[in-house]
Amino acid sequence: MAPFLPPGASQQPCNNPPPVGPGATELHFTLNGKPISVQNPDPRRSLADYVRKEVGLTGTKISCNQGGCGACTVVLAAPPREGLPAWKKPVDSCLQPLCSVGGLEVTTIEGLKDGKKGMHPLQKAIVEKDGTQCGFCTAGMIMSFYSLLENDLQPTSEAIEGRLDGNLCRCTGFRPILNAGQTFACAKPCTKPCSSDIEDFSPPLPTTHPSLTAPLNPSNQPCFWSSEDYTWFTATSLSQLYTVLHDQIVASSGDLKCGPGARMVAGNTSVGVYPPSEAGLLIDVSKVPELLDVTVREDGVAFGGGVTIADVMKVLDGVRALSSTYGPLVQYMQRVANHQVRNMGSLAGNLMMARLHEGFTSDLATIFIAAGAVLTTGSAQTLGKKKERVSITQFFDLEPKGLVIEEVFLPAYGKEEKFVGHKVALRRQNAHALVNMAMRAAVTDEGVFSTAPVIVYGGVAGRATRASKTEEFLKGKSWGDEKVLQDALTLLGGELQADPYTPRREYRQSLVSALFYKSYLALADPSKLPPRLRSAAATYERPISSGSVTFDTDPSEYPVSKPIHKLSSQIQTTGEAQYLDDLPLRADALHAAFVMSTQANATIDVIDPSAALSMRGVKGFISAASMIEDGYGNMVGEYECLVASKKVDYYGQAIGLVVADSYEHARVAAEMVNVTYKDVSKPVLTIKEAIEANSLFKDSYRELETGDVSKGFAAADVIVEGEVSLGHAYHFHLETQRAQATPGEEGAVDIVTSSQNPSQVQAVAANVLNVPQHKVTVTVKRVGGAFGAKINRSSPVAAATALAADKFRRPVRTVLDLSTNMQMVGGRNPYYVKYKVGATKDGKLTAVQMAIYMDQGYAFDFDGADMAGLFIFFDNVYRSPAWRLEGWVARTNLPACTYMRAPGTLEGIYVIEHVIEHVAHKLGLPADDVRERNMYRKGDVTPFKQTLHYCNVQLVYDMVKKSSKYYKRRAEVEEFNKANRWVKRGICLLPTRFVVQWSDCPYSALVNIYPDGSVRVDTAGVEMGQGLNTKVAQVAAYALGTFAKGGVPLSMIRVGPTSTLVANNSYGTESSIGSELCSKATQKACARIAESLKIARRACLAESGEPTWHQLINKAVELGLDLQATARVDEDAPPWGPFQYMSYGAAVTEAEADVLTGEWRILRTDLLLDAGKSLNPAIDVGQIHGGYIMGLGNFLCEEILYNDAGKNISDTTWEYKVPSSQDIPVEFHVSLLQNSGNPSGFLRSKCSGEPPTAMAASAVLAIRSAVASARAERNETAWFPLNSPATVEKIALAGSTPKELLTLNAE
Ligand SMILES: Cc1cc2nc3c(=O)[nH]c(=O)nc-3n(C[C@H](O)[C@H](O)[C@H](O)COP(=O)(O)OP(=O)(O)OC[C@H]3O[C@@H](n4cnc5c(N)ncnc54)[C@H](O)[C@@H]3O)c2cc1C
Ligand code: FES
Ligand code: FES
Repeated sequence: MAPFLPPGASQQPCNNPPPVGPGATELHFTLNGKPISVQNPDPRRSLADYVRKEVGLTGTKISCNQGGCGACTVVLAAPPREGLPAWKKPVDSCLQPLCSVGGLEVTTIEGLKDGKKGMHPLQKAIVEKDGTQCGFCTAGMIMSFYSLLENDLQPTSEAIEGRLDGNLCRCTGFRPILNAGQTFACAKPCTKPCSSDIEDFSPPLPTTHPSLTAPLNPSNQPCFWSSEDYTWFTATSLSQLYTVLHDQIVASSGDLKCGPGARMVAGNTSVGVYPPSEAGLLIDVSKVPELLDVTVREDGVAFGGGVTIADVMKVLDGVRALSSTYGPLVQYMQRVANHQVRNMGSLAGNLMMARLHEGFTSDLATIFIAAGAVLTTGSAQTLGKKKERVSITQFFDLEPKGLVIEEVFLPAYGKEEKFVGHKVALRRQNAHALVNMAMRAAVTDEGVFSTAPVIVYGGVAGRATRASKTEEFLKGKSWGDEKVLQDALTLLGGELQADPYTPRREYRQSLVSALFYKSYLALADPSKLPPRLRSAAATYERPISSGSVTFDTDPSEYPVSKPIHKLSSQIQTTGEAQYLDDLPLRADALHAAFVMSTQANATIDVIDPSAALSMRGVKGFISAASMIEDGYGNMVGEYECLVASKKVDYYGQAIGLVVADSYEHARVAAEMVNVTYKDVSKPVLTIKEAIEANSLFKDSYRELETGDVSKGFAAADVIVEGEVSLGHAYHFHLETQRAQATPGEEGAVDIVTSSQNPSQVQAVAANVLNVPQHKVTVTVKRVGGAFGAKINRSSPVAAATALAADKFRRPVRTVLDLSTNMQMVGGRNPYYVKYKVGATKDGKLTAVQMAIYMDQGYAFDFDGADMAGLFIFFDNVYRSPAWRLEGWVARTNLPACTYMRAPGTLEGIYVIEHVIEHVAHKLGLPADDVRERNMYRKGDVTPFKQTLHYCNVQLVYDMVKKSSKYYKRRAEVEEFNKANRWVKRGICLLPTRFVVQWSDCPYSALVNIYPDGSVRVDTAGVEMGQGLNTKVAQVAAYALGTFAKGGVPLSMIRVGPTSTLVANNSYGTESSIGSELCSKATQKACARIAESLKIARRACLAESGEPTWHQLINKAVELGLDLQATARVDEDAPPWGPFQYMSYGAAVTEAEADVLTGEWRILRTDLLLDAGKSLNPAIDVGQIHGGYIMGLGNFLCEEILYNDAGKNISDTTWEYKVPSSQDIPVEFHVSLLQNSGNPSGFLRSKCSGEPPTAMAASAVLAIRSAVASARAERNETAWFPLNSPATVEKIALAGSTPKELLTLNAE
């Protein structure tokens, strides 16, 4: 119930409800066209929660619950009523209070599919373009596009391209989703009907339904709905609002048990950023006509405080001619939040957030101060009778309690006033500003500041601040006077000092000068600026992105090798696909939530659950004290606690489990468990701290030496030494960790989990429950993204849930919210590597020596408790006569890191490529030359003693070099860099190798053919979006089809959920090998059934000739033949070395960086992967798109920050930024190597899931080269490392532009 309050928000019910009288108790709206009435809806309940749990429309997904991912997008429509205009817009239903949709029409994904016409054209397009993998984001994506088409049947390409700013996908890399959207684009003006079938699906605006036309507040009573002592009131006039506020806040002096008593709610989007203040009375102000007024006057536009950001943009866009500031304001506001949030979020809500939270870098506050905005406020104290007209800066000093922002006036300015705004964020869309800045200035034709400009910064020193001294200084000064610029920069640096207590201080300070400089340049007519400076002043406009895909197929092996769409893609697009939290729950089911540690390195003193136990709906608390086994032996035999009992090792560690009658009750009660600590010590949080404290895992040290390193160094012409590091990253699977357990007879338990590793869940749960494994059945239906996080880290969640189910003898479901998931579960391992490398003067490596430190967090999670297994990645594709690798595993007070897509490979490749660049730099050679001179050839032996019998890296590298026109573009990049002072480009051609190991990775399959000819396949592999089930079905059809005329139609084959009935003691679905080996096990099982089919076939041939599939099975049934078989593959290491095969690839990435701010864009990527003879090229290409974009995120914008206490302070979508749809390459060309094969692969195929992730290293190195080019211009030619993630901050600091260089002189 009611999860629109994010974690941290106290939801203690109020025992003293606000004294408001009874009013209407029914809420009316329509849902997918059907009228709905809800009696006494809970004021805290979100629309998403209602449609999912109450109506059972589970196609709408909840992932972040913060407005940050868009998985919950639905479309709201308002019919015209009571003088308010009609509208239709996408919103985040996780933030939308159920009570606020009275009188509206709600459309969810289920409303799109038409009983007669079938799937909506958008749903079909997503399927056709392979735009869904795990499917967890899919409904939200479609609803975002749908709302666009509902308002414009002929949208432009630009509108489609920009539509997904509020939707995240972690699997597909957005390319196929955008491709699907673009099929609906129309050129304007449109000459022909573009999508007539769309029109068939679209009800025209406005729509009316009788239940929607009733007045909003018929009794005009202040109280509308009340449940669990919370009250919702829809204000329908300003005077009514003031009366209620006055009664609640002023008259009662805030003396209500529920804190301040009342809170206004406009769009309610602020709860996606901050836990809201507790209030028993929620006052909906979004329907107050006075607050929605817009008045366009000659001197400016007055907006009611409740006008949404989207509507402000629309209005200003329409009256651009009125003021020189309106166009730039609209342009800037496109980067505020996202469509869904802008659609509901109001001006007043944003500004009030800025008033209430000093750390909130409001874009509106910054740009509106510069735009000279004037607010009209009223106060509940005077019942709104006394109005104040104040600037935003003055507003920041007003007492917020009972204050209503009635109006925001944006004055009009003549064309002599120029407005410039800048926002620097971790990613381009849907990201809060790290620093924002706006400037309004009037410069005469003679180049003189005629008045003092307005210069405003956000994110530097608390709330948006004006640089008053600099403003005053510039008045009357000449723009073109170099000294004026320099003096202004000095003055600015003095008066605006970045807050020393916020992260990224140095960067924020550097942005003060950088953004001023860019704005200063932008004040000039671009044609009058030196050409080399123009790009620093221009606003970046991203072109429409595009891509191409090439591969070959072999029809003789169809359906294997055929690019068919994922089998479940249709039900994923219609919302019918069920994930764990979508499954119906028994009425008596309970919910569990973890209690987490708030210390990182301490001893638990007392755990006191009494407050939690006394709360409504709470059934009990489980701690280590109530367990027979409080943990389990993990992958490396270390004992790992399910919940800590004595010592806590990291902030966020599980301490216990609260079990309650609802998700919300459990979650709120978990926060009420009081835990005290003693012996609190300073946590070890980084590898360097661990080295200093000698906090290394015992026995984790390993070394690997081949050749003679000393001899190698002696033979070298140059030696380079340096260090490089990579940080944490979070998997960001949209479906968080979750499990459900149902107790059965005699101590048995059925677990449904979202795990990649059902066998492990079974073993861990049996251990914790202290029962034999045959009593634990684990099923995985489908997984909404995993990327390695659900190999070892799902087991503790599932086992704790099973324990709760066993204790209460009722089904229990545990769903981690995003913050708990990010706090409790570790991500990618950070690395720190020191290297010393020798090379000849023509670039041949002579010796490579590395000291590799990996941060593992507090506990070991990897299969091998040492570094040995990781060394295999550090050579990438390079030969050296001597290697010496030493590795240590650091123990820190952080969650146990775990596998994340291409673990070890991504890091190893980045490190060695960094080294290659360093060597090239030292020798003054292009890095390409060093790469090519050392690249492995067939027959080479790796430091890990693997002979490369089959090595085509040179071929792949040469092909992509040619297809991408690498040399031509490298020359163009050089030209571009000569022509531009501050925006620089780089290009990098990177070869990669991915090592595939099959040995000791058992997988099984069970094949059943039923009498009607339908085939059911079950394997040990888990479908998590990677298309495993589709490949398995293709292989089953291929293997069985040879016995019948026309083969076996794929529609006859169904691949079931994974269950420990089949996945017996099997390997997790990981390392990119699950699809191949489950297909192999399936083929083997089919081969066993083939014995029966051969007999049936012979009988058919004798009787009536070549049988069809149905005839064949009829005969087999008639003969009583066995049509069921299981098989298992458990490979030994091949004779040619420890690994089965290598997967080679190469990528060329061209990128651009603004050296002053560190902002980057990926202009083009050409990627070629050898996927062997692909089992399904459409799926493999999808893996490449998604893998590469995940790599981009890990390398460029995803950063986990911990505070000194060890708390993850990036545990929200507000702070943690995975790439969004406009971070992907503007051009993305993906190819699978044609005419390829793989003698040691299954059906000559190769894996595709992980190699492309590491290929994104080419993007960072391209950016590094752009930065190097800027440094070289000022003769700074020394080597500099660029550590990963190379965020905007690191890129700008690597550029380290001295303030003195910010001149009007282009040289
Ligand atoms: C995912 C996400 C991304 C975002 N990105 C950005 C961004 O890039 N830049 C940026 O600047 N902001 C961003 N925001 C913030 C967003 O702009 C605000 O959440 C939104 O504007 C708040 O408006 P609301 O109507 O939803 O306010 P609500 O959540 O309804 O209310 C917010 C506060 O304002 C008070 N309030 C509401 N109306 C009034 C009124 N008329 N008078 C006085 N007080 C009132 C409420 O009582 C409450 O205290 C983002 C938010 C989210 C969720
Ligand atoms: S779940 Fe609503 S935006 Fe993420
Ligand atoms: S398909 Fe988009 S998150 Fe998985």
